[in-house]
Amino acid sequence: MKELLFQRHRRLRSSESMRAMVRETQLSTDDLIYPIFVVEGNNIKNEVGSMPGVYQVSLDHLSVELEELVDLGIRSVLLFGVPKDKDEVGTQAYCETGIVQEAIRKIKKEFPEMLTVADTCLCEYTSHGHCGVIKDGDVLNDESLELIVQTAVSQAKAGADIIAPSNMMDGFVAAIRKGLDEAGFVNIPIMSYAVKYASAFYGPFRDAAGSAPQFGDRKTYQMDPANRLEALREAESDVREGADFLIVKPALSYMDIMRDVKNNFHVPVVAYNVSGEYAMVKAAAQNGWIDEKRIVLEKLTSMKRAGADIIITYAAKDVARWLSE
Ligand code: PBG
Ligand code: ZN
Repeated sequence: MKELLFQRHRRLRSSESMRAMVRETQLSTDDLIYPIFVVEGNNIKNEVGSMPGVYQVSLDHLSVELEELVDLGIRSVLLFGVPKDKDEVGTQAYCETGIVQEAIRKIKKEFPEMLTVADTCLCEYTSHGHCGVIKDGDVLNDESLELIVQTAVSQAKAGADIIAPSNMMDGFVAAIRKGLDEAGFVNIPIMSYAVKYASAFYGPFRDAAGSAPQFGDRKTYQMDPANRLEALREAESDVREGADFLIVKPALSYMDIMRDVKNNFHVPVVAYNVSGEYAMVKAAAQNGWIDEKRIVLEKLTSMKRAGADIIITYAAKDVARWLSE
């Protein structure tokens, strides 16, 4: 009989034990960062309409929320603030008694082991909803840097373990690094939203954080989804300026970029599995159209395969539960 020239790949897929032995990518609860929206006020736990299972919570509800996370083995949270008062220059972002600063203080007091990552931006705090200060309809770069540095330093003073600047102003990593160092926080790492696209996938987040721009869009500071080399330039400058982590955001539509960033830089890569990605899965699952657990685990595993070391995800609690089953 003539010899057949083919390989039997199926040998390594023959049983669950065999598949587990040769599995190349592992998803772990240690990889996950859980975003929390902290709202000013009392006794508030509002479900976000477009993000089932995600809530805006007031400070008095934080302890219960954090206990649940600790029980599930989740060890880090990303904090967003929803303030009562907004103004042109986002004062509540860098106010010592701002909502995120208060939340960090409370969490670090009650749960000292929990890593607190502070999202450092102005859009939740500005009346116009942009991520910096406005002049003649444009977001000013260098003037906005000063405020983002003040925000970062006030968050570090409150006890933040990691500063995560997301406003996409040029030079924000260098400016924040200098600001943190001068304030004595040389050991606080910067997790930079280095590669952040101007994306429609942020829609539900803007409901959750009340941060939709009141005019125009974010295309003059967030990146064009069509670009790849620009992502490498952004990542390169951030690493040079001292970024300790690089975030790629959104995740699902930008897996190629995640791989590029992983291959070209040698800092941990963070995938931000954004609100729109979460909402689409929830909506389809609620209709009974997809198997939510399998879909979510497949997506997150794919992000890791694409190069992510860490994943920010609203599904973190579900994932932690599923991984421990
Ligand atoms: C603030 C910020 C946004 C997100 C994280 N930080 C919104 C935006 O840039 O419009 C989006 C997160 C998500 O969609 O889950 N700059
Ligand atoms: Zn912003």
